[in-house]
Amino acid sequence: MHAEQSQRSDANAVLRVEGLTVQYGALVALHNVSWSASADQILGIIGPNGAGKSSCFAAVTNAVDRRGRVFLDKIDVSSVRTFDLASRGLRRTFQQNSFFGELTVLQNAVSAIVRDYSTSLSTSLLMPWREAATRRQAELAAAELLDYFGIASQYLHQLPGDIPYGVQRLLSVALAYGTGAKVLLLDEPAAGLSGGDMKKLADVLISLRRRKLALVVIEHHMDLIMSIADHIVMIDQGAMLATGTPAEIQRDPRVVEAYLGRDE
Ligand SMILES: Nc1ncnc2c1ncn2[C@@H]1O[C@H](COP(=O)(O)OP(=O)(O)O)[C@@H](O)[C@H]1O
Ligand SMILES: [Mg+2]
Repeated sequence: MHAEQSQRSDANAVLRVEGLTVQYGALVALHNVSWSASADQILGIIGPNGAGKSSCFAAVTNAVDRRGRVFLDKIDVSSVRTFDLASRGLRRTFQQNSFFGELTVLQNAVSAIVRDYSTSLSTSLLMPWREAATRRQAELAAAELLDYFGIASQYLHQLPGDIPYGVQRLLSVALAYGTGAKVLLLDEPAAGLSGGDMKKLADVLISLRRRKLALVVIEHHMDLIMSIADHIVMIDQGAMLATGTPAEIQRDPRVVEAYLGRDE
């Protein structure tokens, strides 16, 4: 029964990573980590600072020297470059916001739209602007993208640095998503957020899951990740310490010992 279940979940996997290992000089930052992510699921990755979580995303996106294999839609993409992975629909955000600081919020979104048009394989089947060719259409698409991510129109003509921090975090996710993604890897999207902003972010992630995206979310805010994730992977000192549903993870004594009980 158990084997059947895991086979079934593997069969649904949009992204599967196998034996990821990352070494920086003598430091083994990640050792033999494997997991999979399915469409319409949120996979949470938790672990203390320095556990290797961000390195795991770098490994998945081929942005760092690593060992292991990565499958996207069952195709071995281990040697596909970062940029080409993005155009195949595997996209990530970073812990720190990164925008074009001199461009308005809308122009940043236009850049993301244009970036995605210019790649040969557009992944979005849902986006009505997929075939848009003109700048005006790209602007409309950008405004629609921002609206979908709950970014109010009052911010469109401001610089990213001038809008509230909570909106900046949403903008980061929106720009990564662009014209659409199959898999979004989000590195601590709620960092620095509280209350209402965190709720808005949670609503966006849940809405993306409803759009059949596979979401992999590194997160320190336990309340948030435990409430939205379907499955959790816990990494400690570069190794997978535990995996399970949020309920299973929360009562796993190893997890409580290594992380949840710790004051960070
Ligand atoms: N580019 C790098 N060069 C050397 N060491 C790094 C580099 N990036 C991360 N590390 C180290 O690798 C370990 C894992 O880091 P990281 O993946 O950022 O962890 P996390 O995201 O879980 O906080 C840490 O000890 C960190 O100091
Ligand atoms: Mg990190």
